[in-house]
Amino acid sequence: MWKSGIKKLLGRAGYDIVRSIDNRGGVDDFLPFEATMRAARAAGLSVGDYLDEVMNGTPGATQSTIDELRALGVFAADPDTVLEIGPGSGRYLEKTLKECSPGRYEIYETAAPWAAYLVDTFKVTARPTAECSLAPTSDNSVDLVQAHKVFNTVTFLSAARYFFEMARVTRPGGRIVFDVMTEACLDPATMRAWVAKGGDGHDSYPAAMPRQACVDLFATLGCGLEASFLAPVGFASTEVLVFTKEA
Ligand SMILES: C[S@@+](CC[C@H](N)C(=O)[O-])C[C@H]1O[C@@H](n2cnc3c(N)ncnc32)[C@H](O)[C@@H]1O
Repeated sequence: MWKSGIKKLLGRAGYDIVRSIDNRGGVDDFLPFEATMRAARAAGLSVGDYLDEVMNGTPGATQSTIDELRALGVFAADPDTVLEIGPGSGRYLEKTLKECSPGRYEIYETAAPWAAYLVDTFKVTARPTAECSLAPTSDNSVDLVQAHKVFNTVTFLSAARYFFEMARVTRPGGRIVFDVMTEACLDPATMRAWVAKGGDGHDSYPAAMPRQACVDLFATLGCGLEASFLAPVGFASTEVLVFTKEA
């Protein structure tokens, strides 16, 4: 009963955000830490690969985004400071650290058990999250700012607030990478599938964001769109946007 409840929750959410069932109190919406770690261990997989292969049914999805970013030269710039919003299980964080060796890797993650696990495992620095602010991080101080599968799960305003902050903390010449569910991800068949399968109790999931609104906003913040590509999310996709802040 308990196991099938977890499976149903995790499966229907297609990894993404589910309501915690073993971390009650405090942060309420995230992948349940203990249950996910146990399931990954039982499958003999790293937690990131478990999410990609088993929960999402998209083996290699995280790596394919990392490969695209490598091809765009994002890691060749040898970022010394990386900031990630909502790293969750750390599946992108872990693969980012295989591509570059930043002296500082800051995370802003609302799910306390996952943040603690990442600090412990990867020696990253967790910053306090409050109202989608990156206030503890100085202006123009980060080489690579990234967020994956976060802005299709939070409200429009949360994403928009983070956008301003991402542009603020990025140093001139630095990169900003994030994915959003744009028009390119919302053909009628996919919208039909979301209606049939998606959401499941999460008012903010999945959240759409117009691509042009992002491009125009970041342009006003001195950040130009350099590239974009689609990345899988379960049966659907999000669009990854890569910006460079003017030097
Ligand atoms: C769908 S998960 C994606 C996790 C990870 N980036 C990945 O793709 O595996 C969204 C993550 O964003 C975190 N999150 C939600 N709201 C947040 C906020 N306001 N600030 C920072 N992190 C947030 C959640 O706790 C969760 O870890």
